[in-house]
Amino acid sequence: MTDMMEVSVHTFANLEELSHAAAARFVERCPERAEKGSVFAAALSGGSTPRRLYELLGEPRFSPRMAWDRVHLFQVDERCVPPDHAESNYRMIRESLLDRVGIPSANVHRIQAELPDPENAAELYTRELGRVLRPPRGELPRLDLVFLGMGPDGHTASLFPGSSALAERAKWVSANFVEKLRANRITLTYPVLNAAREIIFLVAGEEKAETLRRVLEGPQEPERLPAQGIRPVDGRLEWFLDTAAAARLKLRAGSSG
Ligand code: 6PG
Repeated sequence: MTDMMEVSVHTFANLEELSHAAAARFVERCPERAEKGSVFAAALSGGSTPRRLYELLGEPRFSPRMAWDRVHLFQVDERCVPPDHAESNYRMIRESLLDRVGIPSANVHRIQAELPDPENAAELYTRELGRVLRPPRGELPRLDLVFLGMGPDGHTASLFPGSSALAERAKWVSANFVEKLRANRITLTYPVLNAAREIIFLVAGEEKAETLRRVLEGPQEPERLPAQGIRPVDGRLEWFLDTAAAARLKLRAGSSG
């Protein structure tokens, strides 16, 4: 990555250690916000990498340290399937986290991607973000913490290479048709993701290593590598990697595991 944006990269021995570090960060940040009398708003990705993090958040070493009634959970993206479908990100988040902790159901904000019209689902989710996060008129809502993943093709959230949502500069949420999946996805857009206070990528596994090298150390080509488009305007960006994913990076500074 180029210019002034500060990016820190932490490498952990394996997915378990990476997940512990991410859970520790979550429980550290929550009271900081809650003390100021505001809610703590986090957005969670789907996919497989964050499952262990979500399970940990529900375990006795982490869960009791959370003021769950002050936490609002959003989804980063969703596949256009019903919420009980095997591919539903919401289902994964519910089974690994929501069913295990005392978060009020009113604090869980699901993308209704099963609706027949994806544009309608995107619109409803946009309103939900506005209702809960209440940005000043004309400004973007600010999530406190966003966990992102990255696919081996360099996509993040449901911002896939070459897809139309990459060009979205106004909407907060996009219904994005993904050619290679022949399917719609609903996703937070760059503007709303990059308005977050803190973004942490969780990336594990050797099948991500070459893409990760290109994203972090190669030229900027976000049309091909959408993860490069994540550049918080006024927030922190960190990468939590396991050693397999980090294997091809030149700079391995910040090893933590
Ligand atoms: C999804 C995600 C997606 C995910 C990456 C990485 O719906 O699939 O939200 O953006 O984070 O595809 O997925 P893995 O963690 O499964 O590799």
